[in-house]
Amino acid sequence: MPIERTLTIIKPDAVAAGHIGDIIKILESNRFNIVAARRVALSKRQAEGFYAVHRGKPFFESLTNFMSSGPVLVMVLEGDNAIARLREIMGATNPANAAAGTIRKLYATSIERNAIHGSDAPESAAFEISYFFPGLDLL
Ligand code: CMP
Repeated sequence: MPIERTLTIIKPDAVAAGHIGDIIKILESNRFNIVAARRVALSKRQAEGFYAVHRGKPFFESLTNFMSSGPVLVMVLEGDNAIARLREIMGATNPANAAAGTIRKLYATSIERNAIHGSDAPESAAFEISYFFPGLDLL
């Protein structure tokens, strides 16, 4: 399996609920190494830039309002097959459909307030890592 880097965001709902430590524990126990981390209060404009691929969708306005509503923890994770493996342990976007034991099943409360973001492909990981950590090597 290739060593990859991926971007994750612990979202405002999970930060406000005090789940940063719980989520990092799950990431570390699944052999992800944290290679960079920043706590950020995203502006609405920064949230819109990050989620530009979703511009025009019905949930875009609400999503970017939510993502700029409170601090988030942004991290670059490294590990074997990190992009797909992170998506697995995050669980489905809608926590109602998330498998038992996944981060979203444990901590998300709705499809929007879903606790965590993870890059969905190598191309989006490259864009998302450079969005928050310009100059950081992709591997
Ligand atoms: P995330 O993995 O961060 O990527 C885009 C986000 O948009 C997603 O998690 C959800 O929080 C949100 N999202 C996706 N689909 C919907 C939807 N149908 N309604 C509301 N929010 C959504």
